[in-house]
Amino acid sequence: MIKDLWYKNAIVYCLSVGTFMDANGDGIGDFQGLMRRLDYLHGLGVTALWLMPFQKSPGRDDGYDISDYYAVNPAYGSLGDFVEFTHGAKQRGIRVLIDLVVNHTSDEHPWFQDARRDPNSKYRDWYIWSKKRPAHADTGMVFPSVQKSTWTHDSRAKEWYFHRFYDFQPDLNTSNPEVQAELLKIMGFWIQLGVSGFRMDAVPFVISTKGADVTKPREQYEMLRDFREFLQWRVGDSIILAEANVLPRTDMQYFGDDGDRMHMMFNFQVNQSLFYALATADTRPLAKAMDKTEARPASGQWGIFLRNHDELDLGRLSETQRQKVFDAFGPHKEDQLYGRGIRRRLAPMLSGDRRRLELAYSLMFTLPGTPVLRYGDELGMGDDLSLPERTCCRTPMQWSTEPNGGFTKSGKPIVPVISGGPYGFEHVNAAEQRRDPNSMLNWMERIIRMRKEVPEVGWGDFEVLNTGDDAVLGLRYDWRNNAALFLHNLAHEPREVAFSIRIIGDSDDRLINLLSADHSHAGDNGKHCICIEGYGYRWYRVGGLDYLLKRTDF
Ligand code: NOJ
Ligand code: CA
Repeated sequence: MIKDLWYKNAIVYCLSVGTFMDANGDGIGDFQGLMRRLDYLHGLGVTALWLMPFQKSPGRDDGYDISDYYAVNPAYGSLGDFVEFTHGAKQRGIRVLIDLVVNHTSDEHPWFQDARRDPNSKYRDWYIWSKKRPAHADTGMVFPSVQKSTWTHDSRAKEWYFHRFYDFQPDLNTSNPEVQAELLKIMGFWIQLGVSGFRMDAVPFVISTKGADVTKPREQYEMLRDFREFLQWRVGDSIILAEANVLPRTDMQYFGDDGDRMHMMFNFQVNQSLFYALATADTRPLAKAMDKTEARPASGQWGIFLRNHDELDLGRLSETQRQKVFDAFGPHKEDQLYGRGIRRRLAPMLSGDRRRLELAYSLMFTLPGTPVLRYGDELGMGDDLSLPERTCCRTPMQWSTEPNGGFTKSGKPIVPVISGGPYGFEHVNAAEQRRDPNSMLNWMERIIRMRKEVPEVGWGDFEVLNTGDDAVLGLRYDWRNNAALFLHNLAHEPREVAFSIRIIGDSDDRLINLLSADHSHAGDNGKHCICIEGYGYRWYRVGGLDYLLKRTDF
């Protein structure tokens, strides 16, 4: 097994350039602003950034509608600024992943414009056309209620074109070898400019067969290996993190049996049952989801997240389970989206309750995989439900008590900064939290530092402990002659659990608490008996603190 797969023990932080920091005062965040905040990110301890799309785009889906893959949106800066940024990140040991949005282009992309103008255009076959309205045109929408169909008539082309997402995002014909070659070229371009890989958007749709006569789309998994091979040939340690919200047994197809496809995948299964567990204190479905997603190639890795820039998609829960999460975290119509999810940020979902927030993040940092943190969540930022769809949780970063939270000097930020109320920048901002040793920000920094020192989570094999209490999740990781153990009490009242542990070699049976001084010794019956406060969590090492003296090299 290769020793230094960086993504196995990384801390990923995702952000949008446009809402992070505006250096030139036009109200839109830019690469210069992001550059100036690299020391903040370094201080927080993150080791990789995932940047949402920043290429040229009409911006009708927050940049997920690209009109030029080889250019930076001029509002964010130039290619020169981009390279300055990747260089600055590298100097601080921070890697950069960028979104790769190649399932579709913007309808303003010159390829599509050319394709619709002329049936003989070289680009005509880069998209999916139909002379007649396909019978299944009103099925398969990703944004139900907002998106009416997946086929739209184009008056210029006088044909219908396919779009899995909004109608201004025509799907690329990804089965076309020319399109595939272009896709590799796009990857090659950004790799050359210093990125360490890609968060690949909508992977199941990228590899799906598409067309008016395709009633049962088929996934062309071989394409994934081609992407990986190309990438690793160019830069050996670059990776692809796949966005594929598929069933666990399908996940394995994305990793590839020999680990020859995607390096990382977001664990949507765990994400949804994690929210179910937070809502109900029943950790059984979560344990089941972990079990179902346990098998993966040794070089593969899960991305563990709580919230991202989209709605919290609960589509894989049963209807009763989903309803329970809605009741707990998003009971109002305005909290919900697309009939399947919640569009709120984490802090307001958990009523700003610090105990619950810490519990949730402690879980995110200790579930099997690599944690992916969303900008502003380290401060407990809120949302603005007056903004449409998913924009509500994409408001500017709150840096200080300066006007507009220090995000911009302009009076007109691209998205309004949250102001007033419990989540306004006046109360929730980085500057004040930096000064307060007990702030969310400083808690996050400390927990990240500890998490980096527990590589067992990223690398090791895990087992779910039998704590005898469904509300208390016990997880143990073993790796290189070391073990770490985590307890989380999802219930609001204190719980007492008792369990015995397997000791390692000649170590003793102590559980050393990594976050406070209450260590645990097994009792006369050989069991650890631990009382955990409501929403409490414990991080332990098994045996003594001489664990690093005992770590083996394999
Ligand atoms: C998934 C992205 O996360 C989402 O924000 C976007 O709208 C769709 N893909 C379409 O690109
Ligand atoms: Ca700007």
